[in-house]
Amino acid sequence: MSELSVDHLLGIKYITKEDINLIFETADHFKEIINRPIKKVPSLRDVTIANLFFENSTRTKLSFELAEKRLSADVINFSAGASSVKKGETLIDTVNNILSMKVDMVVMRHPNPGAGVFLSKNIKASIVNAGDGAHEHPTQALLDSYSIQKRLGDVGGKKVVIVGDILHSRVALSNIFALKLQGAEVKVCGPKTLMPKYIESLGVEVELNLRKALEWCDVANMLRVQNERMDISYFPSTREYIQQYGLDKELLDSLNKEIVIMHPGPINRGVEITSDVADSGQSIILNQVENGVAIRMAVIYLLASKIKKQ
Ligand code: CP
Repeated sequence: MSELSVDHLLGIKYITKEDINLIFETADHFKEIINRPIKKVPSLRDVTIANLFFENSTRTKLSFELAEKRLSADVINFSAGASSVKKGETLIDTVNNILSMKVDMVVMRHPNPGAGVFLSKNIKASIVNAGDGAHEHPTQALLDSYSIQKRLGDVGGKKVVIVGDILHSRVALSNIFALKLQGAEVKVCGPKTLMPKYIESLGVEVELNLRKALEWCDVANMLRVQNERMDISYFPSTREYIQQYGLDKELLDSLNKEIVIMHPGPINRGVEITSDVADSGQSIILNQVENGVAIRMAVIYLLASKIKKQ
């Protein structure tokens, strides 16, 4: 297979294992290119991409923009805070105005779950979901799995625990779909109050004890506590959260094996992980960021190839 089964990347839920393999193979090619002295290829010289960010971002926004520029696409950037959305313009009107400028692809982050799916049904452009509320963050999950593959050789058969605020996390949901699709075993760990009720129906086990979860796993993906999505208190205090679910060097070194530490960022240093863990040799946090550019180049390139055929 040399093309994706989908015209949009709206979530890992909508793609296949073969799609993931194709994205990883393509990313390998781009990873080699971005490590050359000349990092740019002319592949998307005739493609225009709009990055629409209705919610804050550092890594994803910069990573998409860099990926698009490395592929020689024309790029326009939009941030809701500085736009006519503040004057009451609807999502469809905003996007249709941008599309009138002959845009081929839209990369969108939006606070509402399903915003990308809605857009894909209402406009003629390829849509890439860069995070929609607490729903999905597909390129994050792809770069996470790709980083595991690069560190451990394979994702299939590996034991991965996702720790922390599962309830509010699009990263957790996309990672669960991606890891299960590739044959990894997945557990989630965190306070009971931060576990969605449906979580076990996704084929993952819940482990409330962090030490037990870490003793079981090959990889621990430590999630940020998303205070901005919490309208009530889900745990008594940050201090108590750190005591039960924070990962420090003492706990890491006391395990009977060496595990890989991941974090999607942004990190609350000293909450979900301490600085010495984040900056240790077991952490692949910056490899995740580096791999994100190659993964996003692969996704954009493969989707744009389908647009060109239409
Ligand atoms: N991992 C991630 O989505 O980070 P940003 O919110 O900074 O894009």
